[in-house]
Amino acid sequence: MEFPVKTGEPGSQKTACAILPIFEGHRLKGPTHEVDISCGGTLSQLVKTGSASARPGRTLLVPNLQGAATDQVLLVGCGKETKFNAKALRQAISAAANALSLTGIKEATSYLAYAPIKDLDEYYAARATVEATHSALYRFEELKSKSSGKIKLSRLPIAINDSQKAKDARLGVTHGRAISTGMGLARDLANRPANICTPSHLAEEARTIAKRYKNIQTKVLAEHDMKRLGMGAMLAVTHGAEEPARLIVLEYKGTGADVAPIAICGKGVTFDTGGISLKPPPKMDEMKFDMCGAATVMGTMEVLGILQPTINVVAVVPACENMPGSRATRPGDIVKTMSGQTVEILNTDAEGRLILCDALTYAARYKPRYLIDVATLTGACVVAVGHIYTGLFSNNEDLASDILAAGKRSLDPAWQLPVDEEYGATLRSNFADFANSGVRDGGASIAAQFLSRFVEDTPWAHLDIAGIAWKSSRDKGATGRPVPLLTDFLLNL
Ligand code: BES
Ligand code: MN
Ligand code: ZN
Repeated sequence: MEFPVKTGEPGSQKTACAILPIFEGHRLKGPTHEVDISCGGTLSQLVKTGSASARPGRTLLVPNLQGAATDQVLLVGCGKETKFNAKALRQAISAAANALSLTGIKEATSYLAYAPIKDLDEYYAARATVEATHSALYRFEELKSKSSGKIKLSRLPIAINDSQKAKDARLGVTHGRAISTGMGLARDLANRPANICTPSHLAEEARTIAKRYKNIQTKVLAEHDMKRLGMGAMLAVTHGAEEPARLIVLEYKGTGADVAPIAICGKGVTFDTGGISLKPPPKMDEMKFDMCGAATVMGTMEVLGILQPTINVVAVVPACENMPGSRATRPGDIVKTMSGQTVEILNTDAEGRLILCDALTYAARYKPRYLIDVATLTGACVVAVGHIYTGLFSNNEDLASDILAAGKRSLDPAWQLPVDEEYGATLRSNFADFANSGVRDGGASIAAQFLSRFVEDTPWAHLDIAGIAWKSSRDKGATGRPVPLLTDFLLNL
């Protein structure tokens, strides 16, 4: 999809459809006012009669406008002008894209970010426009026998008032398109069911990413390689599964080989039944999303391939299923991790930390500048921060604050939660160095503390995305988060 940046006068721009904001208050302003004048007051009349509303999310399509340079107009409720900020812009764009997707219109010009927006420069306004449009138009239909219908929108010019800022806006479009591609890939991978999206499927998809870019290489380790490396924890999780596990490595080289890479590690449990500590039936289908950390990391590598920033990044994805069965790991079994530490597996449903601990040890061999893992790790994190924020845990305050800032800028926010040795007390074991699960209270911090035992002094951050990686009920599906946060962090290094 194309998003050219336009800086001309709103009243005279030719377009199939102008997307215009309606703010609270009696008089139309800015581009909406200018188009209103050229069509003899049709728009202000619609506001007066109540057909058009300033209520956020409301839209009204006005066809056959007489006198204006635009054939039709989509009026979008934007609330109070003084409160129109980054989030409100994204909401307005989504509403507009949804409305346009029902019409089959091919081209429409957005004036929603025409005037400068509070807390948002032109770069981020353009980026948000592109990301929100792609997100709203995303459909997962590869497994439906019939497509659900109209979406023809393929060109969305973005109009801005300040022509000096066109270059910033164009960069925002470039980044927004790349991030949207990465999010689309992450969503596709995550939405695929576990009978299609297996560990081997993820490995194949990684190979496909690597094929597209000269400076991305991939390496896929099989179970015998893991055995050789001593990854006893990872192997314990996959033991009950027929489907073979994979450890997927993707290396992006954007600068000299002497520059330490950033390592990103994504939990890739393609289905989490809980194992012998079996999960209850309700919503168990959603455990196909337990590989959203892997999807995020792979989507982010795709973005790096497109944008080619001058950094080195290595992605490590432990991928397997967590299944019950006669070969499955039992509660009480003790394994030796790649780090040499032994773990008593008290709960086979606390499998994420078991595959991640070996993946973190493996990633640490790259001597990374930062080590960041992304995982749908704990239900406790969902209890703590719900479905809005990623839970962030870190052993390094500078790294944590850079990640928090990236989350704010990219409208993909994270909230820092504690990781502290004292949380580890409940992991004590009479039989091994420690156990893989402790008490229920503070579960997200206990899991983080478990992981911290495998990173030593490397500056490390853990993103618990259990609450934000997918949506349930009617909107069930992967969100593509936190690809925007992670990319923003990497692009700002
Ligand atoms: N994949 C789950 C976490 C999860 C559960 C994410 C529900 C999103 C929604 C993870 O493997 C898990 O089962 N965690 C357990 C840990 C517990 C056994 C210590 C949990 O959170 O209940
Ligand atoms: Mn589990
Ligand atoms: Zn899990």
